[in-house]
Amino acid sequence: MNSLRKVTLGLAGFGTVGGGLVEILQKNKAELEARAGCQFVLKTVVVRDPSRVRAVALPEGTRLSTSLSDVTDDPDIDIAVELMGGIEPPRSFILRALEQGKHVVTANKALLAEAGEELFRLAGKKGVRLLYEASVAGGIPVIQTLKESLAGNRIQSVEGILNGTSNYILSEMSSNGKDFATALADAQARGYAEADPSLDIDGHDTAHKLVLLIRLAFGVDYPYSQMPVQGIRNMDSMDIEFAREFGYRVKLLGRVRRTEKGLEAGVFPVLVRHTYLLARVGGAFNAIRIEGNAIGSLFLHGLGAGALPTGSAVMSDIVAAARGTMPFNTGFAAPLHTADIVPPADAVSSYYVRFMIKDQPGVLHALTGDLAEFGVSIAQAIQKGERDDGVPLVLMLHAARVQDVQSALDKIAARDFLNAPAVAYRVMD
Ligand code: NAP
Ligand code: HSE
Repeated sequence: MNSLRKVTLGLAGFGTVGGGLVEILQKNKAELEARAGCQFVLKTVVVRDPSRVRAVALPEGTRLSTSLSDVTDDPDIDIAVELMGGIEPPRSFILRALEQGKHVVTANKALLAEAGEELFRLAGKKGVRLLYEASVAGGIPVIQTLKESLAGNRIQSVEGILNGTSNYILSEMSSNGKDFATALADAQARGYAEADPSLDIDGHDTAHKLVLLIRLAFGVDYPYSQMPVQGIRNMDSMDIEFAREFGYRVKLLGRVRRTEKGLEAGVFPVLVRHTYLLARVGGAFNAIRIEGNAIGSLFLHGLGAGALPTGSAVMSDIVAAARGTMPFNTGFAAPLHTADIVPPADAVSSYYVRFMIKDQPGVLHALTGDLAEFGVSIAQAIQKGERDDGVPLVLMLHAARVQDVQSALDKIAARDFLNAPAVAYRVMD
């Protein structure tokens, strides 16, 4: 007979990640008991549609329900796990579970980025844990790393590939010649994408994760609504190929760095030099580079989405809650204040810009003149090939203020030799 203390779990959401968690609870039962010193009992699982066939079978004795209060209001349940996604009902579910004195584990970055403050406040008031390792970069233990392992550092910058779906799409377009729509459909079939995949491809999922990393790295709230975000929805394989010719790979990055004026942050497709580690991160893998004033540069790499990698991160939080130590949920002792933010227009970046032009005399002269007027200078240029919509002219621009590049592009947009709006991506220096 098993004499270990029982820790009772209630799970809301039995889709990709919930299924991964249930599989881990069963297949790693012995390891989990040895590590946590307790026996995990999954008492209740809540779903929307109980008739749906599931990829993973529930353990014997686990009850399937459609009522969230079967978890939040059950006094037997010690840890409530939220793996539904979206803002409501997860927000109400978590608030209710915390109110009832339960520890909560969630993978819900959208909720924590947009409404985390009230959840952390209530968890602090009730003296329970609100844990979220799976919310950023799937299986990579970056939350724990920033909260605990790097506590001895003043963090200077964090940048990374934080969305498996986008990275999968960009990799498939770049290496296997797939078109955008096919690559997205594949990512969805593999369980990487959000229920609403526009969160992935428009950069908002990366922005949610970046807000969480900023909290943990700098101890401040960066309002999600103020984050500059550019996604990969309109990425043309032509730009991926031109980037390759210049020696770069295109990656969707979330980036933040500490400056004298405050935090400079944003989410953008970025041309990354092919020799950099970030450029070599392919498929659904994620990677994060953290710069601390004691550790120097740290690079974390692993699967950023999918059932088992994400389930692994959820499980680590359950074990931490069961072990019972109680570090601060946000990683900081005091309540967080709002970040000082560098206005996005004042940031400085190098750029890749592609124009579709009419092949006629004077175009380059006019373009360079418009750029020079705003103090923007050209590092390299390629004009190559011809398509129905014109001739692609690609310029690599030296580092300039974001607003100056934008003003020059706005002026060029009115030129009659331009067949389509210019495409502009940042370049990592
Ligand atoms: P999913 O496959 O769509 O599963 C969602 C589950 O929640 C389903 O079982 C669904 O029930 C249930 N559910 C949804 N609304 C509900 C409601 N109102 N009441 C009861 N149950 C409800 O989603 P997922 O991919 O596992 O993602 C779950 C969470 O993990 C999200 O916050 C997501 O952002 C996050 N996340 C996902 C990944 C990943 O790789 N997929 C990685 C990291 C983090 P039915 O099955 O009956 O429809
Ligand atoms: N949709 C997310 C991604 C899941 O593709 O990265 C992991 O958070």
